[in-house]
Amino acid sequence: MMNAMPTFHIREIPVHGDLILSPMAGFSDQPFRSICRELGSAMSYTEFVSAAAMAHDNDRTWHYFDFLPVERPMVFQLFDQDVDRLVAQSKRAVEMFGPDIIDINMGCSVSSISQRGAGAGLLRTPAKIAQLFDRLSKELSVPVTGKIRLGWDDQSRNYLEVAHILEDNGASAIAIHGRTKQQAYHGTADWIPIGEVKAAVKIPVIGNGDVQCVADIARLKAQTNCDAVMIGRAAIGNPWIFQRKDRAQVTFAEKAVMIRRHLAAMLDYYGPTRGLILFRKHVVKYIKGVPGQSAYHLALVTCHTADEFIGLFSRWEEQSLAGDSESSLDQEPEPSQDSCELAPVR
Ligand SMILES: Cc1cc2nc3c(=O)[nH]c(=O)nc-3n(C[C@H](O)[C@H](O)[C@H](O)COP(=O)(O)O)c2cc1C
Repeated sequence: MMNAMPTFHIREIPVHGDLILSPMAGFSDQPFRSICRELGSAMSYTEFVSAAAMAHDNDRTWHYFDFLPVERPMVFQLFDQDVDRLVAQSKRAVEMFGPDIIDINMGCSVSSISQRGAGAGLLRTPAKIAQLFDRLSKELSVPVTGKIRLGWDDQSRNYLEVAHILEDNGASAIAIHGRTKQQAYHGTADWIPIGEVKAAVKIPVIGNGDVQCVADIARLKAQTNCDAVMIGRAAIGNPWIFQRKDRAQVTFAEKAVMIRRHLAAMLDYYGPTRGLILFRKHVVKYIKGVPGQSAYHLALVTCHTADEFIGLFSRWEEQSLAGDSESSLDQEPEPSQDSCELAPVR
């Protein structure tokens, strides 16, 4: 249910809630975003979309912009190193699909992107960020936001400079992942800079990095005073984190309903073959730690049809209900499974 009062605004866009699903390539598609949004994620980000691919009218690009009305506020995230192209393609995306917000990716650490000056590579060219946001904020009808890292490496943690540049050049919010480009996903996210940025700017600040469980949400908010918390890997297999429920608090019955529902949404959206294949990376996270999962894991991720999948899954449920000790699902999670353990990254 929506609170009457927005938690904060991104320019004129009201945001109801303080938890947001991270943009994640290969995961934050329309089916998964819609589930997270319904469970409490306050807005939806697409995964990063290449402005260069858009400029080439690459057919495979457009589906990234599919969204459902219930997902609004809807954020389209774009990346590029070319200011003219980013501005032109952002305008085009707004005109063609009507998102509420355009976000610029300044955090991608993948070498092929960051080394050419896009993603986190933009952090090395603050003047270009200034020019880009000045133009975007003047030429687009919708608010423009940026998602950054702390800097390129430990020697160049320029997050405060970049935050000021973003605010001074019309950005309407900043999301910060508390790592440098060089760290990629290693080490632990440093939340102190998130608090420094929050204290330094007036626009909303969204804190991100290593929120693994519900207790981390309150810790990040208390340490930084950020307006919202962005959650990535910990939401995969546990979209209930947006209801402030840890993996271990979700019953198998709830997981079973969600697995069926998410699979159906994937089949509907991607078609029977691709939908099932793409669902595999979600199902392994849903069943992580569920007693008896080892007996079914391999079969569930290698079966070839949705009917086969549902048949296998139903058998697992029946065995569980019959109290088969090998696959009983009413037990405590397997001890090795920590609800605060992050999923591996790409
Ligand atoms: C598989 C994967 C794909 C990602 N894709 C994107 C992306 O498209 N755009 C983006 O800004 N960040 C992307 N990220 C980074 C996340 O948005 C987030 O900043 C990072 O995972 C840290 O948050 P977490 O610890 O909650 O996962 C991705 C991360 C992962 C694990």
